[in-house]
Parts: sequence; structure tokens; C-alpha cells
Amino acid sequence: MGLNVLVTGGAGYLGSVVSSYLLLKGHKVRVLDSLLHGGHSLLGLYPNRNFEFICGDLRADLVLEKSLVDIDAIVHLAAIVGDPACAREPKVARSVNLDGSLRLFDLAKQLGIERFVFGSTCSNYGKMSDSLKYVNEDSELSPVSLYAENKVQVEQTLLDSDVDSDTTVTVLRFATAFGVSPRMRFDLTVNEFTMELLVNRKLVVYGEQFWRPYIHISDIAQAIGLVLQSSSDQVGGRVFNVGSTRQNYRKGEIVDLICSLIRHEVEIERVHKDEDPRDYRVSFDRINRELGFDATRTVEDGIIEVADLIRHQVITDFGNPYYRN
Ligand SMILES: NC(=O)c1ccc[n+]([C@@H]2O[C@H](COP(=O)([O-])OP(=O)(O)OC[C@H]3O[C@@H](n4cnc5c(N)ncnc54)[C@H](O)[C@@H]3O)[C@@H](O)[C@H]2O)c1
Repeated sequence: MGLNVLVTGGAGYLGSVVSSYLLLKGHKVRVLDSLLHGGHSLLGLYPNRNFEFICGDLRADLVLEKSLVDIDAIVHLAAIVGDPACAREPKVARSVNLDGSLRLFDLAKQLGIERFVFGSTCSNYGKMSDSLKYVNEDSELSPVSLYAENKVQVEQTLLDSDVDSDTTVTVLRFATAFGVSPRMRFDLTVNEFTMELLVNRKLVVYGEQFWRPYIHISDIAQAIGLVLQSSSDQVGGRVFNVGSTRQNYRKGEIVDLICSLIRHEVEIERVHKDEDPRDYRVSFDRINRELGFDATRTVEDGIIEVADLIRHQVITDFGNPYYRN
């Protein structure tokens, strides 16, 4: 049966894809977003009668109260996203990502909202001591930025309070996303490298040996849908990494993949870095084993998709700050 779902950050890169996926699955979707990057991403959602939009800042209680009326489940994605954006405005980042998230969760508990799905990140793992190993949900977290620190703090508060609450909490740690979205981002590795190599035919890669996991945004949407339809016994008080163990790549491998797919003459400058605070390979066995989740799109699929968008000039103003956080 369809749920009434509040998607915070539903106008964002992930949120706009997640919202249309949930509508397709028969849920009613209310988006709460302050439109930091504009509202064009919502245009495709408006024709659906099960879509509703509340424009506002989640830090305002009145906005939250209005957003939570008759809601069964919250998918909390709104945030100041990424290390650079948080470092630029640390006070705002903390008030949205930490204080705002906890206030939203408090209200959800007070109202007895059944589900709270928190969009967290694999960045929480930070640097692994042994990059040949894979981290999993039980591994130690070592956040190396304000962005990840706040995500870890929210995760801990949510998981600690799950035991004494009617609200079922699930924490999803997403791998780095790629793919085309109504709110396109060209500051994410696969999208950025594909665009640079196609448009400018030039790329400077810093620290090509460092590992990261990647996932297509439509697979993130699928994982969120799966969590919402799973029983609270399966997902309550649980953390799941969202990605695919097969899709851990070194940065240099992503560059090689793109070069083999676009077949252009390109100029690549590889700048060696001894250290990267984010260097991790992640196991996604838990979500696969317990919920049957498997990613359906590969990094190659994402490169082809982004290249198609560029070659057909669907987007041409790549310098527009709209595409970067
Ligand atoms: N994109 C990734 O690779 C990735 C990876 C891991 C985790 N995540 C998490 O997924 C979520 C979505 O990321 P994204 O890539 O879609 O980012 P995004 O910046 O495209 O979207 C964030 C959205 O939140 C909204 N927002 C920000 N502050 C708000 C506020 N105070 N009130 C209401 N709305 C507000 C913005 O307007 C924006 O639409 C974030 O929580 C992020 O930490 C993303």
C-alpha cells in the first residue's frame, strides 16, 4: 500500500530522482525544500497528482509542522552537501545538518511517524588504516570533515533513541552518486570527469590511487523504496551501506574507464598525493544479504548516460554554479 512520504531535499540531485521513483511506486510524495539550487528539478513532478511541494527551511518549526501533517514516512535528504560547501559556511551547515536533522527527528517521534530514513554517507568511514580491506557497517567511523562529523552525530542520536521510540529509524550510508538527475551535479567524480574529458578534453587528477565506492542515483532511489517497503523488524535501528561491492574504484580507474568509452584525444595530468583523508573500500554485503538489494547500473552505464547528455547538448552551460555545491 502507498505511504504518505515526506522527502526533505526533494529538489536536490538525489531527492528529485527519489521523489519521482516513489511516486512511480504508488506513494504520495510531499517535498520540503528551500530551493538552494533552484526549483527546475521539480517541474517533472508537478503533473503527478500525488505530488505536493512545501517551499521552506527545515530549521523553521512552522514549516516542519506543516510538512509533517498526515505523513507516514520521512526520507531525510535535505542538507548542506559535501565537504567544500560545509567548510564555506560551517555555522549554517551545522544548524541544518545537525540541529535541523535532530529537530526534525524529535518532531517525527512526537507525532509517532512510523518511519525515518536518514540519508547518510560512506564518507563517514574516512581513511582506512589498510586500504586493501573493506569496511562494513560495524567498522569504526573516522570522519575527516564537518560534513561527515555532523552525519555521524545525527546517526548516533537516531540509533540510540530507536529502542524507546515508535518511529522506526534506518540509516543509509550512500556511496558517491553518479548519473543524470533533474538537478544535475558536475562536482561528483564520475559526472565531473566525464564532463571535463568531453568538453575541455583535459583533466587534472589528484591522488588517482585512492579508493571510493560509487552508485547510480536510480539505484539509491531503489534502495530507499526497498527500505520503506521492508518490515520494521528488518530495517529498524539498522545501518545499511548503499552501493555495490563491485563498484569500488580507484580514481585513476574511473579516468581510464571514461577514456576507453569516449575515445577522444585527451590530456590528463596525474598529480601524485601521498595522503587522502578519504580512502576507503566498502562492503555492501549487508543490504544485499538482508534486503536483496543489488545495484542495476554500473559506472560504465553512468559514463555513457552523462556523455549522451553532453553530446546531445541537453546541457551546455557547464560553468553555471547551479551544477556545483
Ligand atoms: N550525492 C552524493 O553522492 C551523496 C553521497 C552520500 C550521501 N549523500 C546525501 O544525500 C543527500 C542529498 O544529496 P544531494 O547530492 O542530492 O545534494 P543536493 O545539494 O543536490 O540536495 C540537497 C537539497 O537540500 C535542500 N536543502 C538544503 N538546506 C535546506 C534547508 N535548510 N531546508 C530545506 N531544504 C534544504 C537543498 O535546497 C537541496 O535541494 C544529502 O543528505 C547528502 O549528504 C549524497
